[in-house]
This record gives sequence, C-alpha cells and structure tokens, in this order.
Amino acid sequence: MHQDLERVFASEAEIQEKVEKAAELVSDRYRGSEPLAVCVLKGGALFYADFIRALTIPVALDFIAVSTYGKGIVSSGKLVIKKDVDSDLRGRDVIIVEDIIDSGFTLISLKKLFLERGAKSVCIVTLLNKIGRRAHDITPDFNCFDLADGFAVGYGLDYDEAYRNLPYLGILKREIYEH
Ligand code: PRP
Repeated sequence: MHQDLERVFASEAEIQEKVEKAAELVSDRYRGSEPLAVCVLKGGALFYADFIRALTIPVALDFIAVSTYGKGIVSSGKLVIKKDVDSDLRGRDVIIVEDIIDSGFTLISLKKLFLERGAKSVCIVTLLNKIGRRAHDITPDFNCFDLADGFAVGYGLDYDEAYRNLPYLGILKREIYEH
C-alpha cells in the first residue's frame, strides 16, 4: 500500500498526539457528564477507537453508517441511513466522531437529525478538515488536521475500500485515482 502514496501526511505518532489533544479538550468540556460518542462508519472507525480510549470521562458508545447523494448540492443532497444508532438520543449530549469533513453535507445532516431526535447537544469531532471545499455552514468543534488538497487514505480512510488499515495517513498518488 505504501508504494501507492505520494507522501505520508501524518505518522502514527503525529496522529496519536493530535487524537490525545482532542480527547483532552473534549474530556474537559464534558467533565461531570456521560456523553454518547457516535462513530460514523466506516471511515471513522480507527479514529473513534483511539479517541474514545484517550477520553478521561465515561462515555456511552454507538455507531451509524450513512450514504450521501448529491453531496455539496444544498437543494438535492440526501442522507441515507444504512445502519442507525440504537440509543435513545433524548436529553443526551452527543459527540459525533467522523474521519473527514469535506462538503459538510454528512455532518450538517447528522447534526440536524440528532437534534430532531431530541439530543440536548451535538458536538462534532473530526480527524481531517478538508478546507476550502465546504458547501454547507458547518464547522467541527474539534479537529485534528487540516487538509488543503490531495486524496487522503489510511487510518480508516479509503479509496475504493482499500488502504483503510494503513496505520498512518497518506496522500494517494494521482495516477491511482485519475485514469
Ligand atoms: C466520507 C466521510 C464522511 C463524508 C464526508 O464518507 O467518511 O462521512 O464522506 O463528506 P462530506 O463532508 O462531503 O459529506 P464515505 O461516503 O466515503 O463513507 P466511508 O466513511 O464508509 O468511507
């Protein structure tokens, strides 16, 4: 897999440092309460596993898988839930844990959905913020890395379902996805 990368974007150690920092800030914010941490599958899985272990507060866990169509097009975007959370969200502080925010459609839609279901608050934690591509008015509350350009893979992120198990983040060579 490594030979398909143009460069390493963040090493395992660099990721761990950022994840621990984000977890420390989130722990401080929710000290005294027990929020529900929702992992957005599949890309968020590795980040989520490290993030929740670095939290120093108790959390409940849940998982959701979604697809989006018409991403970036405000009028016709559609969020399809492939696997829903099990938890009753009424009155809960919810932390959405996601690998990447790009157009912002997935996260603005999930936040709206969880608030409609009665969540007391919804906070967004992202591993990567793809800057300059936002089409929706949403910003992560906590983010680990900004990504200006390039196709990021590894640490949960895929290209055509490959590279998710790389333990670090890399930028894929253009020739892999442009042909
Ligand atoms: C990716 C990513 C986010 C979404 C971000 O999911 O995990 O959910 O796209 O894009 P947006 O901000 O433009 O909505 P993907 O559909 O690739 O699924 P995956 O997590 O299973 O890889």
